[in-house]
Amino acid sequence: MKTVQIKLASETYNITVGHDLLKDCGNWVKKCLTANTKKIVIVSNQKVFGLYGEIVLNGLETVGFQCLVCLIGDGEKYKNFRTLEKILKFCGQQKISRTDAILALGGGVVGDLAGFAASIYLRGIAFLQIPTTLLAVVDSSVGGKTGINTEFGKNLVGAFHQPSGVLVDIQTLKTLPKRELTAGFCEVIKHGVIGGKDLFETTSDFLKQYPPAKFNKFFDLADFIRQSENLIAEQVAFKAKIVAGDEKEEISRDDSQSRKILNFGHTVGHALEKITDYRRFKHGEAVGYGMLVAAEISKNLDIFPKHELKSLNEVVHLAGKLPNAADLSHEAILNALSHDKKNIGNSLKWVLPETIGKPRIVDAKEISEQIIRKSLQTAFGEKLNGKRNNRINKQIS
Ligand code: NAD
Ligand code: GLY
Repeated sequence: MKTVQIKLASETYNITVGHDLLKDCGNWVKKCLTANTKKIVIVSNQKVFGLYGEIVLNGLETVGFQCLVCLIGDGEKYKNFRTLEKILKFCGQQKISRTDAILALGGGVVGDLAGFAASIYLRGIAFLQIPTTLLAVVDSSVGGKTGINTEFGKNLVGAFHQPSGVLVDIQTLKTLPKRELTAGFCEVIKHGVIGGKDLFETTSDFLKQYPPAKFNKFFDLADFIRQSENLIAEQVAFKAKIVAGDEKEEISRDDSQSRKILNFGHTVGHALEKITDYRRFKHGEAVGYGMLVAAEISKNLDIFPKHELKSLNEVVHLAGKLPNAADLSHEAILNALSHDKKNIGNSLKWVLPETIGKPRIVDAKEISEQIIRKSLQTAFGEKLNGKRNNRINKQIS
């Protein structure tokens, strides 16, 4: 078992990474919260609760907590005001008090919603995370960003509300569908590209040794469990370091350690999700393409070396197949980007790789539309195995 501490100005909490931890989650919760906590609202969805609900309930009830289960719909389309209201109503009906807590059991959608509800219910109550997707483990459960989507775009309403603790049980990743693993590994790769060559190499070696396509076969191997724990702890430690240095993502900061670098791949990623109505891509898959486009732009600006772009393409390929993007209109993507720009005061920033392990934040004014179009064409038109798809390239030219 490994513990990563996240030290912020106003609070410190632990991210515990290990295997077979769920059965003892009651004692973990006791360590994270004050002795006054009596009731825990578990926010989850039918699928995840069906898999891990009973073991979590048993763990909490054994140590004396009263548990109340609030199940929400499954998927990005439920990350909205209606579901938020449903959770808040549930807390009110169950007379949840300021000393009680909300626990998110699930992926990033459950975590973002449950965390946002915890941040505003009674002006803020304690919140805990048991993330069960790879993406939630390495990214969304760490750092306190919570929120919902609105008709104008993703995560447009939300709050910073740090959890009192995060419990990662590697074993829960065994039931993840292949696409969710690919999506999660895209975020893992993202951390490598912006975090350091070592983290990138460790990720790449891990993916070569344990291909996501056969992931669930490895869980009986002690070495796989050990290496997974190590990789996840390193990933989380990287994110914890960035969050500790720039908890609220200061608008004025543009340096290579600012929280903005965690948005690598998200500029185009969010645009892809938006123009396909959040239906075609998993969030992580869209980020996968977003990283490839950002890296192409960087190469076209003579910042990012060609051989490093090749390494990045290869590692994204190892994470699994991404849904087709070659048929998407460049016009629609550029429009979505300009809408993003308006949201942030007409100053869209791109996170580009300078080398693997070193990001650079670049003002959108420095990147011509022609370079973006060319980069979209290459990143989407080129299959990840390196072979060009001529038919698709013709369609979008
Ligand atoms: P998700 O929460 O929709 O989960 C993906 C799917 O996996 C769902 O169908 C879920 O029911 C299922 N699932 C979850 N755990 C499972 C398990 N162990 N076994 C089998 N199935 C399981 O998607 P996600 O990729 O986890 O999260 C994406 C969301 O996270 C997006 O809304 C994104 O905006 C958000 N996000 C937030 C942050 C942040 O800092 N707060 C960071 C990154 C992403
Ligand atoms: N996922 C980006 C962040 O937490 O800042």
